[in-house]
Amino acid sequence: MKTKGVIILGSARSKGNTHTIVSKLQEKTGFDIVDLKTYQINHFAYDLNNEDDFNALFKELTANYETFVFATPIYWYTMSGVMKVFFDRISDFLFEEKEIGRRLRQKRMGVVSCGSDQEIKKGFKMPFVESANYLGMEYIGHIHTWIEDKKITEDVQQRITNFANQLMEK
Ligand SMILES: Cc1cc2nc3c(=O)[nH]c(=O)nc-3n(C[C@H](O)[C@H](O)[C@H](O)COP(=O)(O)O)c2cc1C
Repeated sequence: MKTKGVIILGSARSKGNTHTIVSKLQEKTGFDIVDLKTYQINHFAYDLNNEDDFNALFKELTANYETFVFATPIYWYTMSGVMKVFFDRISDFLFEEKEIGRRLRQKRMGVVSCGSDQEIKKGFKMPFVESANYLGMEYIGHIHTWIEDKKITEDVQQRITNFANQLMEK
């Protein structure tokens, strides 16, 4: 059975290297792409009084998709700030309207990183694995990618193909 999936792009530029990678992944999966940069998503606030695009976006995503692929550039060895703020804001739905937050249970999480280095430092995956765990999501895996001379290398292409196949299983 095909799963309906969305790739959540968390780069500081909409048409950068991470976008190049996720475009290829989209070709192989047919998943939609949501570019966080095109939304106004403020930092988490304890009084939960943010008036921005997050709540509507999160409700739409959790209502429509079963598989979430978080695609982030590596900035300072970790996920981008844009992506981290998205995760912080999920907390809004753990404090209020908890039934919306609970919609993530049983959904699937995959992760794509894009760095300038081919090597990824130990520990990168941990926040995703633990967040999936905490949220009751099934963590399906991570691929690390990079761009060379504005192109996707054969090695990276193979990683994307394998990951797409994994995402399309079930
Ligand atoms: C603020 C910043 C920090 C970065 N830190 C790292 C890093 O720690 N490790 C790495 O491999 N690449 C690092 N890079 C390079 C980017 O991960 C790389 O160029 C990536 O392909 C950028 O994707 P984008 O075009 O979607 O932003 C950094 C780039 C920026 C702008």
